[in-house]
Amino acid sequence: MPDLLHVLATRLQVAFDSVAGRTGVDPVIRLSEHADAQANGALALAKELGRNPREVAQAVLEACGSLENICSSVEVAGPGFLNLVLANGFLADELSKVAADARLGVGAVAARTVIIDYSAPNVAKEMHVGHLRTTVIGDALVRLMEHVGHRVTRENHIGDWGTPFGMLIEHLLDLGETKAADHLSLGDLDGFYKQARAKFDADDTFKDRARARVVSLQSGDAETRRLWKLLVDLSTKHFNVVYSSIGILLTDDDLMGESAYNDLLPQVITRLDALGLLRQSDGADVVFPPGYTNRDGDPLPLIVQKGQGGFNYATSDLACVIDRVERIGADLLLYVVGAPQTQHLSMVFDVARMAGWLKDPVEAVHVSFGSVLGPDRKMLKSRSGDPLKFIDLVTEAVARADEAVAAKNPDLPADERARVARMVGIGAVKYADLSTDRVRDYVFDWERMLSFDGNTAPYLQYAHARICSIFRRAGIDRSTIASVAISIVEPQERELALRILGFESAVFDTIERYSPHRLCTYLHELATAFTAFYEHCPVLKADDVTRASRLALCDLTARVMNRGLGLLGIDTPEQM
Ligand code: ARG
Repeated sequence: MPDLLHVLATRLQVAFDSVAGRTGVDPVIRLSEHADAQANGALALAKELGRNPREVAQAVLEACGSLENICSSVEVAGPGFLNLVLANGFLADELSKVAADARLGVGAVAARTVIIDYSAPNVAKEMHVGHLRTTVIGDALVRLMEHVGHRVTRENHIGDWGTPFGMLIEHLLDLGETKAADHLSLGDLDGFYKQARAKFDADDTFKDRARARVVSLQSGDAETRRLWKLLVDLSTKHFNVVYSSIGILLTDDDLMGESAYNDLLPQVITRLDALGLLRQSDGADVVFPPGYTNRDGDPLPLIVQKGQGGFNYATSDLACVIDRVERIGADLLLYVVGAPQTQHLSMVFDVARMAGWLKDPVEAVHVSFGSVLGPDRKMLKSRSGDPLKFIDLVTEAVARADEAVAAKNPDLPADERARVARMVGIGAVKYADLSTDRVRDYVFDWERMLSFDGNTAPYLQYAHARICSIFRRAGIDRSTIASVAISIVEPQERELALRILGFESAVFDTIERYSPHRLCTYLHELATAFTAFYEHCPVLKADDVTRASRLALCDLTARVMNRGLGLLGIDTPEQM
């Protein structure tokens, strides 16, 4: 609630200053469990004045006359805190401002140019559950950061380069282009990859062909490039099917695969060399960023050019930094990449800093995340033991949601139910992922994520749908209600009001830490406050004035829920 706290701070400042006998005392206001907010500036001020903190707090309280319209009570507590309770009239006024604001109280920030690197599957490999977190978290961060005014560029750093392409292209030639294309457009990327791999391992002539093919790919042979492009296009077509089926913003325009940096790779080496940073280690060109050691305690190098002159993953990531900073002019680089790549990214960032490619105020952040686990707490696998395919996961989510929605609302017509089931199933999977602190692992649990109770998408979506149904039942157009003045009387109304007013700070808190679970926690609290309100405060049966006010509170809750879930990439059905 930064806005409310800011208003309080500005007003309290006067009282603090008069007690201090100087200006600019910081009242240090926080949200509190004991009141709405707590000011603990008296403690520091007491030290400054050499007085007893409770006495100072009391003096501030007496000088507080000006808080009348904001607080209904101010009390000295504990070792000199001021407990502040916001006045209901003040909350009602603030709610009206939020209701009248298309942005629901969420302000904009000084724009930064932000690159969000996410999803990044590998060509000729199926998207599996391992890509879920980066895709879903990255997409939520894109939406959130764009919403507050940042200039966001999405980059899908797909793995579209490297030695496997030798065998993949040869396998494609063996099958014949048309047959290979049929095979791949069915989405069986893994099967194709496995066949190529098997031939590579078993057949020496195939292996030689594959190796020669890598050489012609790297030397830019036109026919090889054409075949390579064919593979890339067939794979990205599959990725796009996945993205659009679950409402991920990525399109072909966002593709910035490893191959996109090929022309920059030699420059990475010459620039590092000119800076005197290159060393030789086991025949490779490397850089030693300080502070990394291997198991034996020896300095750990970042390899930028292999013995035979080949570049690798680290080289393209360094090129990537150069491109993002120097060409795009980014000042914040976010890498939504799993925890296993922590050391790799950290070394890349350090080398880029040593080279001066990353320097203040440009920031690079590894937005790391844990794994999705099966019930055995090991990596989630399909029944066959392979990683669970992303597309199968979506299909199952929707099928299960369809059953859940049918059980909850048997009267919903079939086509509407199918539409709702998509939103609920996909929402449930996304929300289960986003609502876990990203740095932690979580156990993938269908029952839990599809439950209509608890911190789940269906619970939040249901709260929203329930509000829509209140309006439907009463035959009231929601747009007519948004400007009605809200009055806060009951404690449940007050609690709900405080939640609604906390939306802005939840959004900013989420963005500052790149942690969507914070917004999830907020939305769950909002839904819980709404449930309590709805149980205790009759809406349609109340007298006219109260009814209008409560309908306005319902409408505002639904708008915040819709916006909040929308920022996470989750849809809100109007009925379910
Ligand atoms: N394609 C990589 C993988 O599957 C992830 C790329 C992440 N982004 C980056 N700039 N390294 O592991």
